Order: sequence, then C-alpha cells, then structure tokens
Amino acid sequence: MPVATAPTATCVIPQTHLTDLPPFPSVFDPARPVEVDIGCGKGRFLLARAAANPNVQYLGIERLLLRVRKIDRRVQRGGLTNVHLIRLEAGYTLRYFLPSHSVRCFYLFFPDPWPKRRHHKRRLFDALFRTLVWSRLEPGGEIQIATDHLDYFADMEKALAADPRFEAVPAIARTREEQTDFELIFRAQQLPIVACGFRARPASALAPALLARLAAEGVPALPPQPDEGTS
Ligand SMILES: C[S@@+](CC[C@H](N)C(=O)[O-])C[C@H]1O[C@@H](n2cnc3c(N)ncnc32)[C@H](O)[C@@H]1O
Repeated sequence: MPVATAPTATCVIPQTHLTDLPPFPSVFDPARPVEVDIGCGKGRFLLARAAANPNVQYLGIERLLLRVRKIDRRVQRGGLTNVHLIRLEAGYTLRYFLPSHSVRCFYLFFPDPWPKRRHHKRRLFDALFRTLVWSRLEPGGEIQIATDHLDYFADMEKALAADPRFEAVPAIARTREEQTDFELIFRAQQLPIVACGFRARPASALAPALLARLAAEGVPALPPQPDEGTS
C-alpha cells in the first residue's frame, strides 16, 4: 500500500521541470523588496544577508545543482523564509523569470573570470547582461560587484561608467559574515579585492538621443517579455 509522504520542504524553484518556471508574483510578495545574488555559489553571503534582513526577499541564482542543494538544506536548517533559489543560467533567469523593474539590488560577487582572452566570450558580464540588469532593476536600484580579478573588474567598471543608464554609487560595506565563500579563499591568499556599485537611472531621465545612440552602438534590445504582451 503506498504511503503518503509530506513533500520535502525546499526553497528551490522550479520544483519539477526546469522549464516550469512559476510566475514571479506567485513566489515574491510585491510589497517587499527583492534582491538577487547572481552566481551565489555556496551561499555564504546570501544566507548572512537574508538572516540580517528578514523583510527583504532574496533570490540566489546558481547553475550548479550540488551548490543549490547545499544552500537549500542550510535555508531549511536555519528556518529562513525569505530565500529562494533557482538552478538556472543567470542570463536566462533575468530574461525569462524576472519581470521588468522588479529587483532592488543585484549582487555579482566573484563572477567566473575566464582569464584567457579566447575565453572572454564566456564571461557573464557583457552588453546584453548590462541591458538585462538595467531593465530588471527598479529605477534607482543597484548592482553591486566585487572580485579579485582586476582585469575583469576594470572591464565591468569601465562599461558601466560609460553606460548612461547607470551612475556610480559607493560599493556596499559588508560584514565579515557577508564575505563570500570564494572571497574568504582569496583573502587568505592576500589577493586584492575590488568592488564597485552602480545605480540604474530611470528611463525618463535618459534622453531619447542617448537611447538611440545605444541602439546604434549595437546594445541589444530585449524581445517582448511574456508578461508584457505584444499587442
Ligand atoms: C567563482 S564562483 C563565486 C560564487 C560566490 N558568488 C562567491 O563569491 O563565493 C562563481 C559562481 O557562479 C556560478 N555561475 C557562473 N556562471 C553562471 C551562470 N551563467 N549562471 C548561473 N550561475 C553561474 C558558478 O557555478 C559559481 O558557483
């Protein structure tokens, strides 16, 4: 005789097929801010931040299943109710899961640097990623970046500083508990850690000529989102 078992508690979305993404509003309360840790790794920053800010909703994006499972167990053990995890590619998640202007802050900490020049095309941060970040941030929302890789950092900072959709803000101060797992390793090796922050300027503050110039420079436009319709 089959035994009914209670579903195992999990904060991972989607729970069945990767293509079965739940609608964003069915997961996140629109009355509370959402912050997203892109490539959250083993989750040290995400969990510390979520524990310290129970009113904020957190999403960790991570493509490695074992890391997602490990964070999920720690979320359950810690009784955190404000964390969700998604095991998907980050660009895909921004494009197809996050609605426009829904995120208060993106954290991009120690993204894979792909140091060899011929591998730079594998880096997450490129022109399309910048467009996705800007379009998913609330007006005035921020992206916070930290890395030990000085060349990659210079490329990201230069691109954001030259992009009229963003303006520089101070990098956030993080407590010792909020240092990431990879950061602890790099700090132990005495590697320099660099950080910056940028705020999304509202579209209304951007001159139409600037938006046209970006388009002319090849900054890709986004296709219509499922929630935005085409008619
Ligand atoms: C160098 S680790 C840094 C992890 C964490 N942020 C930290 O500082 O400890 C980069 C993480 O990003 C994840 N990652 C890299 N590219 C990704 C992508 N396109 N989509 C989702 N996760 C990605 C990797 O699996 C890895 O866990």
